[in-house]
Amino acid sequence: MAPRSGTSAVPCHYSHGRGNVIRYEYFQVRRATMKITNRITDLLGIDYPIVQAPMGWIARSALASAVSNAGGLGIIETSSGELDAVKAEIVKMRELTTNAFGVNIAQAFVRDPNIVEFVVDQGVKFVTTSAGDPTKYTGALKAAGLTVFHVVPTLAAALKAVDAGVDGLVVEGGEGGGFKNPRDVATMVLLPLVCSKVDVPVIAAGGITDGATMAAAFALGAEGVQMGTRMVAASESPVHENWKNAIIGAAETDTVFLNRFSRPALRALRTERTTRLEHDDNVSLGEFGRVTDLYFGGDLEASIALGGQVMGRIESVESVADILKTTMREFHATLAQLQRHYGTH
Ligand SMILES: Cc1cc2nc3c(=O)[nH]c(=O)nc-3n(C[C@H](O)[C@H](O)[C@H](O)COP(=O)(O)O)c2cc1C
Repeated sequence: MAPRSGTSAVPCHYSHGRGNVIRYEYFQVRRATMKITNRITDLLGIDYPIVQAPMGWIARSALASAVSNAGGLGIIETSSGELDAVKAEIVKMRELTTNAFGVNIAQAFVRDPNIVEFVVDQGVKFVTTSAGDPTKYTGALKAAGLTVFHVVPTLAAALKAVDAGVDGLVVEGGEGGGFKNPRDVATMVLLPLVCSKVDVPVIAAGGITDGATMAAAFALGAEGVQMGTRMVAASESPVHENWKNAIIGAAETDTVFLNRFSRPALRALRTERTTRLEHDDNVSLGEFGRVTDLYFGGDLEASIALGGQVMGRIESVESVADILKTTMREFHATLAQLQRHYGTH
């Protein structure tokens, strides 16, 4: 079976007149075991080091259980602030999967001062903290026996998180979707920089959508990858099809970076609303307007559809199982091709 066009990510120079070679190698790697053993799979208890990004309202049980059941790690969000709903989603997770899953605490959006107790009470073993100071919750979460990864957008933040005692990092490049450091640094620069300075395991985020980007992240030092925008467009994602279709139709230039000189900076799909906001000095959270009208009603102008530049590479809605399977096949195929063409003999 040849990789699908569009979502295929074998390096472009292999696609010229080498179709048979690719098909042959692809067939070969299909037969090989696709599981990976490294610090991320060991720590998280998963087969494939692919993590679904936490995303307000989206990272709930339908999507997260599909990821965990497919061999990756599903993560449940708390950034919506709807903790009763989140609690119910975690109960559902246990009905939908027996595999590992995690929870995210997006610190900037925490309204409940007892968020650590809330997460600990849910009995999850893995948590990512993001959008805030890693010294705030790491100690308490670790003391309760959880594995803690902190999301970082700079080297300084990475070193601070390591000092705070985290078990690992999610290193997130500025091309990714969602809330960002206003001084954004691309994954290609940030990831190898951080990996060269820390010893903890790293999950790469920002621009990851397939096996080649996963292989690139591993070449730069990561041991796992996190997908956000790709998961928004997955079949099991609960968002309205208008949003998924907008991702599929988007070019790589169709995101806007808002609040470059103030906070919170964020990357989102270009729409009339976000184009209007692009030159505002200080876009307030009030501009998120009617979030659920966008997420579930499909009105793209009702709110801000967070998303990363990688939307320019997403060409179809696929099931989570297909996304993970294809990614792992392409990952192994990419490594095999690189070894064959550039490895020392
Ligand atoms: C719709 C959306 C919502 C997000 N919400 C959160 C969140 O609640 N917490 C968080 O840590 N990151 C959040 N992010 C960032 C993702 O976790 C992830 O790191 C990012 O999307 C990776 O880049 P990618 O979009 O290129 O895959 C969000 C991203 C998107 C696209």
